[in-house]
Amino acid sequence: MKTNIGVFFGGRSVEHEVAVISAVQAMNAIDTQKYDITPIYITKNGEMYHSPEMLNISEFKNIPALLEKSKNVTMVKQGEKFNIVELKKGLFKKVLCSIDIAFPIVHGTNCEDGSLTGWFELLGIPYVSCDVLSAAVGMDKAVFKYVLQKADVPVLDCVQFYAKEYVANSDKYIAKIEKQFSYPLIVKPANLGSSVGISKANDKDELITAIKDAMNYASKILVEPAVTSLRELNCSVVGDTDSCKTSVIEEPVMSDEILSYKDKYQGGGKGAKGAKSGGSKGSGMASLYRKIPADISDKIKQDVEEYAKQTFKAIGANGVVRIDFLYDTENDKVYVNEINTIPGSLSFYLWEPKGVKYSELLDKLIELGFKRARVRENLQFSFDTNILDNDMSFGTKGSKM
Ligand SMILES: Nc1ncnc2c1ncn2[C@@H]1O[C@H](COP(=O)(O)OP(=O)(O)O)[C@@H](O)[C@H]1O
Ligand SMILES: [Mg+2]
Repeated sequence: MKTNIGVFFGGRSVEHEVAVISAVQAMNAIDTQKYDITPIYITKNGEMYHSPEMLNISEFKNIPALLEKSKNVTMVKQGEKFNIVELKKGLFKKVLCSIDIAFPIVHGTNCEDGSLTGWFELLGIPYVSCDVLSAAVGMDKAVFKYVLQKADVPVLDCVQFYAKEYVANSDKYIAKIEKQFSYPLIVKPANLGSSVGISKANDKDELITAIKDAMNYASKILVEPAVTSLRELNCSVVGDTDSCKTSVIEEPVMSDEILSYKDKYQGGGKGAKGAKSGGSKGSGMASLYRKIPADISDKIKQDVEEYAKQTFKAIGANGVVRIDFLYDTENDKVYVNEINTIPGSLSFYLWEPKGVKYSELLDKLIELGFKRARVRENLQFSFDTNILDNDMSFGTKGSKM
């Protein structure tokens, strides 16, 4: 029997559509000689639906019509099986199929931040991608920096604060920022993607405006120095904490000071130059203008590869990630900027130039997911004896030591 892969995609995130594209690409690239695929689409309000038609991207042009012919489902553990069951009114749930491993293809908050993998952990199903901790660390731009600083990986320092603290005491925070850094500065919401709420501030007035704007999107804000002679470099890493490898390095080409949502997903903004690449059908991140491989010195290439691997290990990542760097060309230094623990298009276009076919990449990711499940199975999570059977002499308050 073939291994059945449950591909969970979409989700309650601003990057919902990008995730649909990434997932449909992946489902069409999976080796069907080896695997069966069960698509499970998570709507923008968190409901789950299944239909074999979900392998066809054009079905997503009219989502209500697609849902009409799909089945409303969820996953339950029944005995040793992870069943996808149809949700019907009434008592009885109909089992549609069992899946062997969950493959999440979601981007952004409420999804890529570990919330979906948390559900997989709870049920105990093997799954592809980062675990809860590494996904959550990767989603919070400030916490991510702190972990990397501890691991001696170069990042730009930041000042972080919560919106409420700032509103109550804005002068204190502005003074703190101005004491620590000089302009220009970059203001970011701590946990969003796609450049939402990010802006550059050249002076105090702009800083105040930028913070106000960022507070519309998140309750935690961070401010860091802006790299003015900037080139951006991205590198994918595949593996686990035992061993990992780096892909070729790409240079996304900016059309403005800040790589915008438009640049990333709608084929470049004003004046974008460079080769349109990726070689993928179905666009997604591949519609961004990018240079692959990036035209950089051997030293910068080595630094990026080394820091990418160190970053992967520092957060305890698993599967495929993409690590994005800020390259300060004036000082010839690179800084890790952020990690995408479920990158757009699963970064397949960075592996193809290394001779890794997309189907082989997916194979590897599935293998890594099963490997982690085997390792965890051998760790002891519970004891067979039930301490509640014993004399309850410690009383009813519990006694966690
Ligand atoms: N410190 C910085 N200096 C200069 N530009 C930056 C800096 N941080 C971010 N940017 C610009 O803003 C874009 C989005 O920031 P990033 O941290 O990658 O957030 P997102 O998660 O939204 O992609 C980057 O791709 C880059 O163009
Ligand atoms: Mg980014």
